[in-house]
Amino acid sequence: TAAPDLAGRHVVISAGGTREPLDPVRFLGNRSSGKQGYALARTAAARGARVTLVEANTRLPDPAGVDVVHVGTAVELRAAVLAAAADADAVVMAAAVADFRPAEYAAGKIKKKDGEEPAPVVLVRNPDILAEISAERVRADQVIVGFAAETDDVLANGRAKLLRKGCDLLVVNEVGEHRTFGAEENEAVVLAADGTETPVPHGPKEALADTVWDLALPLFH
Ligand code: C5P
Repeated sequence: TAAPDLAGRHVVISAGGTREPLDPVRFLGNRSSGKQGYALARTAAARGARVTLVEANTRLPDPAGVDVVHVGTAVELRAAVLAAAADADAVVMAAAVADFRPAEYAAGKIKKKDGEEPAPVVLVRNPDILAEISAERVRADQVIVGFAAETDDVLANGRAKLLRKGCDLLVVNEVGEHRTFGAEENEAVVLAADGTETPVPHGPKEALADTVWDLALPLFH
């Protein structure tokens, strides 16, 4: 069993992918399985933390000993994360949050009409939750961790994203059609605000999760 080095800590983790509805039956979504976020929740609980898991659209059972909040959209995920983050020692944004949502929600199912072109879908920006909690710092000693999936120039884009978001750690992984999403294993580099880079070799999502907690520990005051 793991050393209880997170005992007395409250950690908040978002997992899964948001769905942004167009009408009662359709949404814009993404391929996030939620497995990395759940691995973070299980490992934190095993290390003694009180864990709040904010879950969006995964098909995973609630982990034992973890408080789970179920949400659907980015706006709902933001509300749940902000509420739980108020007294959190760490917030890890592992969820794939949609950057945009449809500007309008049709209360009835959108119909196709004979001889008519489909109406374009207009999108508006969603709030950037990671940037917001990093800027606000409700607690000066709170450790904030983001994730970034990149397809090219992984490290350069990751470093720029860490600065832009203002978080303490950014877990960067290279994604492609057949990588990471839905898989049991992951491979990443964890970038820290102090400039250090910690490569995590291909392995179980729990191993990456434990590395995130190892790197967060010395950042707690
Ligand atoms: O900007 P990008 O979507 O690549 O950033 C990914 C990181 O930012 C993840 O940690 C994700 O949870 C977070 N994010 C967020 N709010 C958004 C978009 C992404 O918190 N609207």
